[in-house]
This record gives sequence, structure tokens and C-alpha cells, in this order.
Amino acid sequence: MIKGKVRRRPEGQENKKIFTGEIEVCAESMEVLNTCRKLPFEIKDFVRKSEALRMEYRYLDLRSSMMQCNLRLRSQMVMKMREYLCNLHGFVDVETPTLFKRTPGGAKEFVVPSGDPGKFYCLPQSPQQFKQLLMVAGIDRYFQLARCYRDEGSKPDRQPEFTQVDIEMSFIEQAGVMRLIEGLLQYSWPKDKGQINVPFPSMTYEDAMRHYGVDKPDTRFEMKLVDVTAAFQDTRIEFIKDALLEPEGCVQAICVPEGTKHLKAKDLEFLKQAAKTQYCQEVSVAPVRADGSMKSPLTRLLSDSARQQLLQMAQANAGDLIFITAGPRENTRPLLGKLRLQCVELLESLGVPVRDPSVFHFLWVVDFPLFLPKEDDPETLESAHHPFTAPVPEDAHLLYTQPHKVRGQHYDLVLNGCEIGGGSVRIHNASQQLYVLETILKEDPSLLSHLLEALESGAPPHGGIALGLDRLLSIIVGAPSIRDVIAFPKSFRGHDLMSHAPDFVSEDDLKPYHISVVWPNADTESQQDT
Ligand code: AMO
Repeated sequence: MIKGKVRRRPEGQENKKIFTGEIEVCAESMEVLNTCRKLPFEIKDFVRKSEALRMEYRYLDLRSSMMQCNLRLRSQMVMKMREYLCNLHGFVDVETPTLFKRTPGGAKEFVVPSGDPGKFYCLPQSPQQFKQLLMVAGIDRYFQLARCYRDEGSKPDRQPEFTQVDIEMSFIEQAGVMRLIEGLLQYSWPKDKGQINVPFPSMTYEDAMRHYGVDKPDTRFEMKLVDVTAAFQDTRIEFIKDALLEPEGCVQAICVPEGTKHLKAKDLEFLKQAAKTQYCQEVSVAPVRADGSMKSPLTRLLSDSARQQLLQMAQANAGDLIFITAGPRENTRPLLGKLRLQCVELLESLGVPVRDPSVFHFLWVVDFPLFLPKEDDPETLESAHHPFTAPVPEDAHLLYTQPHKVRGQHYDLVLNGCEIGGGSVRIHNASQQLYVLETILKEDPSLLSHLLEALESGAPPHGGIALGLDRLLSIIVGAPSIRDVIAFPKSFRGHDLMSHAPDFVSEDDLKPYHISVVWPNADTESQQDT
């Protein structure tokens, strides 16, 4: 600590490169408040550090200008959101418990031991049940910055604990929730990131899957999926013929403009291989030559008119690349959807600008199916959103006959191809909720008897949404991972590399919980973590 008088630097000694470079302190006293050991890395923006080292010394990493900006922006946005919801729109900020019980369906939950033998709490995946109970309780506009827990591993856009801007309203419809969120984002949007225009565009789930092969389309660039089955109708190509005989069999394509200029044989091989390993399905590449012919064994077997038709349908020109795959629709669309994104990432890594990093494309995705076949057991249905989502009223009668055809009143908010929010209008009728749980989802309704009873207690119609605050912020600041907007995030394996949590608990400490540890094989412990 230096005490003294601030004065202008002598002429010629100013340092224009730093903010305070025109002044200096003429010291009168000096005191060492604390000492500093040799730090594991220099706190300079240009010093490169591994992610593991940053996590281990997070309190030092947070001194970087990037982390300082990110955390301060987070705080400012949250303040604006509170202001908008509570002061301008009469929302009530209510805290809900984090020691709870298992919710059927959805993500894997963390369990917490209790003193009662064999009984455990679960950490909530979200405050979904509580916010619905608050509607029954007459808190007609609820809001909370809610900490949620999901034991599903960490990814760049996923953490085992994360924060939602959680909202629920009584007597509200889908459009009302959407307009509120648009207003909320407009109000809290950082001034230096430009204006955002509302209302956000909407797209149905069906159109998203048809044109982009995913339910969270990145609409910042084209390269949309095209169904080119018609061009292969009379094909002699065996594998396409076979694919077209399958139920929902089709041929799908995407066209990469000027792809032949940028993507070399090894890049194409990488993309084809990725498709093969992820989806066990072949993808063919057809580079378009100047004369409109295509350099591909696939198209060699096509008649001239079929080839023309393919070029026209894919809107392909000389120099473009066409990726083609054939098979059932539910495989080909997600495959090309993924390939579309991998392709654009590859192009950008090669220095070809495709997406403008300063633009923000919001999109509502609506009209989701209420149920989807389970991935590991396609005969059984699971909720596309969660079991509390209400059907679209005109489809409600199909619940009892053809549940797979029912659309849900479910909406997702997508920003630059990332799902930053999801919500729905809820079932507020106890018998419909019981039917969905018991008969369609085959879940044990006794787990939710408290909610079913509450619905029978004069529950108002209600609905809501939750925004993923970490994802939203990471996109706004252009961070590669949500870890960069969270003060103390978990590692890839869900560990805290600074404090080494989770950690061992002694047998003595486990006794009150009636728990003993069964040790796994030693080699599972030696996995790397970053
Ligand atoms: P949902 O499960 O869609 O809905 O979650 C809402 C939003 O939370 C974010 N999110 C995550 N962010 C970081 N790490 C994770 N592991 C993670 N999981 C989800 C996403 C997502 O869009 N209760 C319902 C909401 C409702 O119906 O009102 C819910 O939790 O951005």
C-alpha cells in the first residue's frame, strides 16, 4: 500500500499505452500488506495456459481480463433480468429446495445420502415441480435464478451444475411466454452487442428436421438439407435401391458452395469417416465439375436427366460439393444435420469465413411431438420435453389412441444453433397427467402423488420456460465453452480440479448414512481428466 499525492508525470515521461499513464503517485509512505509466492503462471492475457492449469488455480485465472469481463457482464445481465421481471412485470423471486426426490424421466440425477437407512435425496434437475406447485399456491408469476443438477457429464455447453433463469406464469399461453422472453432479452441485452430484433422468427420442429436435420438449427448459414429422392427414383445403384425400400427410405443431400476449392481429399475423408463412425452410414461426395458432370461413382450410374435433376434440386453449381446419403429419414436427416455443422467448422478452421461471429440469430422452435421413441428402446415413448407438457388442444384426443402423433405445447429458444431455453404450457388436469405418466410413459405415478393432488386442488392453467443462463452468456461473449462464464466450473469428468471434489469420506463419516463403499477395478481410477 502506497500513500501519497497524485500528480501529473513530468513532461515526456507519460506512457500513452496505459490508462493511467499520464499521472503518478509521489509516495509518502509504503507498507507491504502481504507477500505473493511465485505463481504457477503469469497473469497476462497472452500467456497460454492449459485448461487443467486454469481450473486448478481458478482464483488466479479469474484475474484475467477475459474472466473479469465475463463475470461482470453476467452480474449486469442478471441485475437487468431481475429488474425486468420483478420491477416491471410483477414477478416474485422464490427460492426452492435443492434437497429433493427423484423426478421420473429426464436426466440422471445426483443422489444425496440421508440419515434414514436406504433413503436418499436427489438434487433437482430443475425446479419444475416446485414452480408448478407455486402456481397452485397462487404465486402467479414466479421467477428464480435456479441452480440445477444433472449427472450427465460435462461438455463445452453442459455442466453437471448450471444456472437457469426459471419462469412460470398462471393463465398464460405459448405466445405470452415467447413475448415475455423476447422482452426480457431485449431489456437485458448488453449495449455493446448491438440491438436484437423482436419478435424472434419461429420454425416448426418438422421444418427444422427437414431443412437442418436438428431441432436446434444454426440459421446463420444456408447449406440446407434437400430431399433428392426423386432424382434417384429409377436408380441402378444397389445401396440406394435398398435404402429406398426401407420404411421412410429417402435420399438426402447438402450442397457446399465452392466446396471443391476449400476441401481437399483428406478433409472429405475425415467428414465421411465421421459420418460412418457416428451413424454407421455411408456418405458419398460428388464434386461438381465445370461442365456440370460430377466426379463420383454414385452419379456415374445416373442418367443425364437424373443428374440434371439432382443439380437443380441441390441448387449446385460448378465448383460446389454435394454430400449424399440414403436410408430411413430418421437416420439420414440427423446425419446430414451433423455433417453440415462439421463441414462449416472445418471450413472455418481452414480460414473460410462462413458465420459472422458478431451476429445473433434467435429462433423459436415450436410444434414438437409430445413424445419420441426412446433411443435404446424405440417401442417405448419418452417425453420430448418433460412429462408435464400439455398436448396441443386439437391433438389431445390422440393421447388415448395414437400418442406418437400428438404435438406438445413445447417451445425451445435457439441462439446461433444452441438451445438456450425450453419450456411448455403444462398439463393442469390431474387425470390427464396421471394417464400420461402411467399409461404412456410407464412411470410410477406414486412418485408424483403430491403433484397430482395439487393439480386436483384447483390448479390454474399455467406454463413457463427456463433459459440456460450459462449458455446464453457464453454465446454473447463468444466463449468456446460455458466454463468461461462460470466462476468455479467442473472439469470434463465433473470434478473440481482446484479442491479435488468429489473426495473420499472416511468410513466413520459414512456410518451415519449406513453406507459402505464397494471399490471398482483399479484401472477405472486412472483415467485422465481435463
Ligand atoms: P430444459 O431441460 O430444456 O428445461 O432446460 C432449460 C435450459 O437449460 C439449459 N441446460 C443446461 N445448461 C448447462 N448445462 C446443462 N447440463 C444443461 N441442461 C440444460 C439449456 C436448456 O434449454 N424445467 C424445464 C423448463 C420448463 O419447462 O420450464 C427445463 O429444465 O439452455
